[in-house]
Amino acid sequence: MGCTCVVGLQWGDEAKGKIVDILTADHHVVVRYNGGANAGHTVVRDGKTYKLSLLPTGILSPHMQAVIGNGVVVNPVRFFEEVKNLRDADIAVGDNLVVSNHAHLIFPYHAEEERLIEQGASSAIGTTGRGIGPCYQDKVSRSSGIRVGELLYPDHLRARLHAIVPRKNLILQALSPNAKRFDADVLTDEYLGYAEGMKPHIQDTMHLLHRAIKQGKNLLFEAAQGSLLDVDHGTYPYVTSSSSSTTGIWSGSGVPARNLTRIIGVIKAYTSRVGRGPFPTELDDGPAGLGETIRRIGREYGTVTGRPRRCGWLDLVAVRYSAALGGVDEVAVMLLDVLGTLDEIKICTAYELEGQRIDHFAGDAFLLERCKPVYETLPGWKSDLTSARKPSDLPANARRYVERIAELVELPVSIVSVGPDRDQTIMMR
Ligand code: IMP
Repeated sequence: MGCTCVVGLQWGDEAKGKIVDILTADHHVVVRYNGGANAGHTVVRDGKTYKLSLLPTGILSPHMQAVIGNGVVVNPVRFFEEVKNLRDADIAVGDNLVVSNHAHLIFPYHAEEERLIEQGASSAIGTTGRGIGPCYQDKVSRSSGIRVGELLYPDHLRARLHAIVPRKNLILQALSPNAKRFDADVLTDEYLGYAEGMKPHIQDTMHLLHRAIKQGKNLLFEAAQGSLLDVDHGTYPYVTSSSSSTTGIWSGSGVPARNLTRIIGVIKAYTSRVGRGPFPTELDDGPAGLGETIRRIGREYGTVTGRPRRCGWLDLVAVRYSAALGGVDEVAVMLLDVLGTLDEIKICTAYELEGQRIDHFAGDAFLLERCKPVYETLPGWKSDLTSARKPSDLPANARRYVERIAELVELPVSIVSVGPDRDQTIMMR
């Protein structure tokens, strides 16, 4: 085996959590390497639903070592909330959860800064409001970032916050006279309280992961968000602030990319997006339209914010791009059952930009906004797929749809999902 990565090839919410959950059987260690509590991973197991945002989904399997890598931004409040939710659901959390000493900490002033910036209509990205972007900004600024390992040195933490918080208050006041003000001592005391609880989990996770590889253990990397939200390669500036493609694994965990032996790109059978930004295949066709039908049947509401997701046809120009970027070996097609009522289904195979047909993705929001989708239309299968368990259970038109995806992305489709439960999964090979 070796190292596997499960990565989203759209704008997030591709149902990666279910694939991670299935793959835990063959792996020993699960690693989050990017993002923070902006992710929303839902897993349904034996009829029970688990929602995770910051912790790796793989923690639901008791044999897995769960790792929050250095590329993640950690809000201790969310950390304890999720640990508690797991324990309440009889999932053991102890040594099986480690957090990198080099992951960055989210403070309440990050969420305040984000709130004030997002209020400006022209600057709004439509973020999840979890302080993720401002925390990464501080990481890169160097002068204002604080890492998880610094929680273990009380005097040092107090001195850092005394240097940072007055500067933060000035910035926040400049953004709005009504901004919240923060007190360095109050924050230090609060975070020292968290330090007690986090201490047993804090480790040099790069060292741990390299040791695991040497011991022949199988690692499973769990990407958060989707590749089209990647800060470098996504639809900038309508992106998240971390490397959400596989590109983030090396920097966000310290495991070199050459260790990856299997990369599974996950897509929905259609496309969804939350937040602002271009979406060429969006079905913005009102309450009686197909966009609403997909949203209703697919229960397309954000796990983190509850916002209705924007829905549209499958965009394979975008998927081809993110599959190439991520070095994807195979594709998992999720939520195929959601399209079961449609007479016909469209796939975007190219764009038209200023009168020219193009078949490559524009990784700039201002250009993608001008792209018109070119569609191919396939017949629907008009039936319920939720009890299909093997390829031959799929009606001919559903099989044709999946085959056409594989042809156009030029990669095999290895998994098809027809419902949230583990057993509603078809292994195609
Ligand atoms: P942020 O990550 O909160 O800064 O938000 C930036 C953009 O990424 C917004 O459009 C969010 O809606 C989107 N986003 C962040 N996390 C997720 C996710 O897990 N799924 C889908 N969209 C996300």
